[in-house]
Amino acid sequence: MKKQKISQITCSCASELPQDVACQIVITDEKHWPELAGELSPRSDAGMLQQVSDDGEFNAKAGETLLLHGGGEIPRLLLIGLSAQTAAAAEQYRAAAALAVQQLRQRKLTSWVFDLSAIVNVGDGDVATVVDWLLDGALLELYRFEHYKSADLKSDKSESGNGNGDEIVCAFAGISADALVAVEDAITRRKIISDGVWLARDLVNQPGNVKVPTYLAQTAWDLAKQYNFNCTLLGPAELQRQGFGALLAVAQGSICEPRLIAMEYCGAGEDQPAVALVGKGVTFDSGGISLKPGEGMDQMKMDMAGGAAVLATMATIARLQLPINVIGVVPAVENMPSDRATRPGDIVTSLSGQTIEILNTDAEGRLILADALTWVAKKQPQVIIDLATLTGACIIALGHHASAVLGNDDRLVEQLRQAGDSVGERVWQLPLFAEYAKQLKSEVADMKNIGGRPAGTITAAAFLQKFVAEIPWAHLDIAGTAWADKGKPGQPCGATGVGVRLLVDYLQGR
Ligand code: BES
Ligand code: MN
Ligand code: ZN
Repeated sequence: MKKQKISQITCSCASELPQDVACQIVITDEKHWPELAGELSPRSDAGMLQQVSDDGEFNAKAGETLLLHGGGEIPRLLLIGLSAQTAAAAEQYRAAAALAVQQLRQRKLTSWVFDLSAIVNVGDGDVATVVDWLLDGALLELYRFEHYKSADLKSDKSESGNGNGDEIVCAFAGISADALVAVEDAITRRKIISDGVWLARDLVNQPGNVKVPTYLAQTAWDLAKQYNFNCTLLGPAELQRQGFGALLAVAQGSICEPRLIAMEYCGAGEDQPAVALVGKGVTFDSGGISLKPGEGMDQMKMDMAGGAAVLATMATIARLQLPINVIGVVPAVENMPSDRATRPGDIVTSLSGQTIEILNTDAEGRLILADALTWVAKKQPQVIIDLATLTGACIIALGHHASAVLGNDDRLVEQLRQAGDSVGERVWQLPLFAEYAKQLKSEVADMKNIGGRPAGTITAAAFLQKFVAEIPWAHLDIAGTAWADKGKPGQPCGATGVGVRLLVDYLQGR
């Protein structure tokens, strides 16, 4: 099964326009377009662009596109409209690049150049930043999951029709000589980060019969060997011995063995405190004995999206060689009903020693996270960030346009909010007032695993909070953002890879 890799996408940057690409891309807004049309004209048929502008055939409104033939050395010119408002510039450039690549792809064009000299609002100082945004958008759009499609059904079948996903050439031109080094560096780093996003998307898109817990563990192990970080895997016997009672209660219904995946990247001194990342790794969530309805159950293969984000982030920061220490933990289990499965009403002892009355086996994410959080908290990290497709209630609260963030440390929450804004993976805070935890009171155990209908996302976070001790901690509920039912430029339908770019940005800022 051939898959397209970012390493097969050739990126380059130069001052001059290359001559061997199929299309030149110009991104402009309503304010700049009329003047630009005049300036660009000599490169195209004289006066043609002026005509297009004068006739209002292309007005450079956000989302507008126009592909023209003829004229200069490059056979095609693709015009892309950009919003003229300057707020959220990064996201607008990403969207414009994604739209451009979508247009090119639909026409089976595989080589193009973003002409920075004709892309508006690029000050000389931040060319590298703009290239970074453009490449980010382009690579987010280029991803497809077609491992299981026969060659003749693949979407990236190009003119040659060989179905192998011809090499893509993505060039950047119009860059001043003294900016070239910075741009090259930006390209190298962006390819590494996008690789992480593609990896997370691949893992989440894989079906549940393939990406069983041991598959995730093997993936982590291979990445650790490849990129030089530590990986420890705990299997059922060791989990039992150490007392992971909550995690094992979820795993016991499945024939698939659970794994606790623990990764350690040491980019700073051994004595430096670490950031801990914890990701929910339920490879398939049937609900267990509290079985989910059949409709849409297939989507629950995405219930390891938090774990995928953590795995991919570890690989990415190791490749970027960030000067920090990071611990990544992914409790990987499958949640299944069977004669051995946990029953509603069962009481288990978690790794922390606290007992839990499991009233709904479908509230399994918090159970595996409880033990993973306890385990990592013992290592005294400076902060803990967990990511989980934890509650359907989060989709009710925020829909699909933001992840929820909750935590016990306002500074950390604010840092994550800023990271999310800067990469276009927005997060929105929900409160974690002490009162919510009362909904988890049990008659027979230290707590129950569900808090009733009101504030489902918050009571889930309140449950997790009982396992992080006093360590600064934030929880991202990505139930609404990990999966896209409908595609759009930059986001093919399916896994989004949410969390990777956010975490990498946050960690880069440390
Ligand atoms: N994995 C689900 C949450 C989920 C739902 C993620 C939809 C993505 C899309 C989680 O394990 C779950 O089933 N949560 C229950 C909790 C309830 C039983 C308290 C839910 O949200 O219904
Ligand atoms: Mn569930
Ligand atoms: Zn779940």
